[in-house]
Amino acid sequence: MKRITVVGTGYVGLVTAAGFADLGNRVVALDIDEAKIAQLRRGDMPIYEPGLAEMVERNVKAGRLSFTTSYAEAIPGAEFVFIAVGTPQAVNGEADLRYVEAAARSVAEHMTAPLIIVNKSTVPVGTGDWVAEIVRRHQKEPIPFSVVSCPEFLREGSALYDFMNPHRVVLGSLDPEAAEKVAQLHLPLRAPILITDLRTAEMIKYASNAFLATKISFINEIANICEALGADVKEVARGMGYDPRIGPLFLEAGLGFGGSCFPKDVQALARMAEDMGRHPQLLHAVLDINADRRRMAVERVAELLGGDLTGKVVGLLGLAFKPNTDDMREAPSIDIARGLLERGARVRAYDPIAMDNARRILPEVEMMPDPYTLAQGADALMVITEWNEFKQLDLERIRDAMRQPVLFDGRNIYDPARMAELGFVYRGVGRGHPLPEAVRNGAPPPGSNMAHP
Ligand code: UGA
Repeated sequence: MKRITVVGTGYVGLVTAAGFADLGNRVVALDIDEAKIAQLRRGDMPIYEPGLAEMVERNVKAGRLSFTTSYAEAIPGAEFVFIAVGTPQAVNGEADLRYVEAAARSVAEHMTAPLIIVNKSTVPVGTGDWVAEIVRRHQKEPIPFSVVSCPEFLREGSALYDFMNPHRVVLGSLDPEAAEKVAQLHLPLRAPILITDLRTAEMIKYASNAFLATKISFINEIANICEALGADVKEVARGMGYDPRIGPLFLEAGLGFGGSCFPKDVQALARMAEDMGRHPQLLHAVLDINADRRRMAVERVAELLGGDLTGKVVGLLGLAFKPNTDDMREAPSIDIARGLLERGARVRAYDPIAMDNARRILPEVEMMPDPYTLAQGADALMVITEWNEFKQLDLERIRDAMRQPVLFDGRNIYDPARMAELGFVYRGVGRGHPLPEAVRNGAPPPGSNMAHP
């Protein structure tokens, strides 16, 4: 049993605190937000994450997990302090480190014994060294400490599973002994542990997220080309994925990536490169392609409705940036809804759990109680989030409720042939489009040097 303090009770902090408590450690979770700590003490979770409430309750009851707003209470006696505060994006794409700075300063001011400070927040390369300097400057007396970077790789919606079953644990430090102690904490997880230097560990996080985002933008670019040439991107991705050098994951074409991580991290990495005089061309292309996805979705629906969206009723199936979360951060639904509204459409939506969050961001969008009410009188429906419950809808009932059976499937959850059979005017992403005139009837393949036979 080790004594751990986790600073920050957002996604990463709360899951880290609950996870380490569940592994048998004594964990104090600290947040400066009094309302949030009061809520957590009542057993009420500030975020939706499957299994989290149960895990928190179990560990609070067992006396292994507690919540506080007081550094004076949480720092003395701790052997490890995990920093898991937010690193929001500043207007210009830079990472805003003010919460990391405040946390480091408060830890320094309250430490009374040697400490290992572990950073879990996604921070620009070089932050670990900077945190060490802040701590040194704000200590009341010189007490030894080490800084270790331990980037988080969990996904929203399966965060607890990811915490307990990591593919790897990455630790970076200039102090191998400290890194070794943090490695010990992770031993029960039986994952490969990579110990490296601080900057390399920080970079591994950005490079991993940027690579995954690149895979998504890559398959979206292929989807665009598939539409023009009459190929099916879903099958293309399947055919590619069997090659172990490529792999099948993160090759779902659709509306692009959203959420609190990929958009922010790719921009931040590009910004770091530019600040150092490098030209991150690929990262810019990844972001451009991603932004285009949202414009493309609005454009497609406008095309299907004859070009003019004025007064047309468009229903959005799903609002969250991905299924199993109520998180609306950087959700494609936001740009898509705004794009539709700008073109004069009336927009309504249904999401199993994100509607409360969405209402605040999209007050002009009418929230509906279920998919069938959403379809009632609609000119078009758009699948925005691939919730499982949408895969099992009674599509005949949906079709009959609509004013026009137009369905844009932004996540490719339906089968184009079946949708056509049901009488829908259906478009997927990179599939389910009519073959363009230019490539029909034995025309020479585009990109070849042949003339029409
Ligand atoms: C992502 C990473 O997957 C985690 O490993 C990482 O720890 C986390 O960011 C972070 O840095 O904190 P998350 O943002 O929760 O996790 O979501 P993902 O499941 O990775 O999905 C991100 C976005 O990509 C979603 O909008 C999803 O719809 C989209 N996506 C994903 C696709 O469009 N196609 C795919 O094939 C996969």
